[in-house]
Amino acid sequence: MNILVTGGAGFIGSHIVDKYLELGHTVTIIDNLSTGKKENINPNANFVEMDIKDESISKVFADGNFDVLSHQAAQMDVRVSVNDPKFDAQNNIIGSLNLYENCKKYGVKKIIFASSGGTVYGEQSEFPCDENHATNPVSPYGIGKLTNEYYLYYYKQIYDIDYVALRYGNVFGPRQNPNGEAGVIAIFANKLINNDQPIINGDGLITRDYIFISDVVEANMRSLESEVNGIYNVTTGIETNVNHIFQVLKDKTKSDLEENHGPAKMGEQRRSVCSFDKFKSKHNWYPKVSFIDGIDKTVDYFIKANG
Ligand SMILES: NC(=O)c1ccc[n+]([C@@H]2O[C@H](COP(=O)([O-])OP(=O)(O)OC[C@H]3O[C@@H](n4cnc5c(N)ncnc54)[C@H](O)[C@@H]3O)[C@@H](O)[C@H]2O)c1
Repeated sequence: MNILVTGGAGFIGSHIVDKYLELGHTVTIIDNLSTGKKENINPNANFVEMDIKDESISKVFADGNFDVLSHQAAQMDVRVSVNDPKFDAQNNIIGSLNLYENCKKYGVKKIIFASSGGTVYGEQSEFPCDENHATNPVSPYGIGKLTNEYYLYYYKQIYDIDYVALRYGNVFGPRQNPNGEAGVIAIFANKLINNDQPIINGDGLITRDYIFISDVVEANMRSLESEVNGIYNVTTGIETNVNHIFQVLKDKTKSDLEENHGPAKMGEQRRSVCSFDKFKSKHNWYPKVSFIDGIDKTVDYFIKANG
């Protein structure tokens, strides 16, 4: 297949690109390198440095003849969205529409979208929750992800463009940015390796559903199959709090540093954990890497990356 991957220089997008290429697909990447890195870009992909908001993106679609859009590019920091909702919406809603309009114009058959199980539901009333749980996002980022899902439904109904919205849990693994605000495992692992004190925001009892990158990549591979359509949680159904992450990373890195807590951050829900039964029962996808194995692989990567 001929696939356009936005955000292919980023953490998740670059792993997806690698796998699509390995499977023999042709891949074009669009990325503005705002958080993505040149070294993540697979040399066998065509790379276009461009913002998804750029009107001249239509030229890339006109030349590309793409079968599938894998839309991974986003402003992906919940706290940035809280501080600057307009910036978030310009990138994550208007930028997406720029892509979807071109999909319509140039006959793209399917859109695979990186949604977010951690934010579209808001404060949950069921643990874990499935895809039918009420969606009450408590951050502009979550509102943006949900809005994209509504637009994708619209493009399917009116223009018959297939879509798969993958509501990822909190993804972790090699290549995640350890210097940003999001991605607690990458941030803490990198700090502990460098004997730099990680700060746990608030009481550290906030929970998330952490999923290893290779399981997310596998979900994206399955999404290329024609019968895979609709909205799916791509999660583990397991809830882990930040204090536990700190302890596991402390053990793995053999660090002497102790828990240190700072003020809690706004716009963050307390608990998030989602079931993956729908994807499993319909298409037999399920997460294969345990939290501990994922942590091992991630810490090993950051040890190597630090030389
Ligand atoms: N990491 C997670 O835990 C997680 C969870 C749920 C959903 N997601 C979603 O998965 C996708 C990938 O996230 P990630 O963790 O790899 O983040 P990332 O920041 O590593 O990757 C995002 C990529 O998009 C690019 N980008 C950002 N804005 C752009 C724009 N306007 N135009 C072109 N390129 C742009 C960045 O340069 C970067 O390469 C995002 O859509 C994110 O919202 C991530």
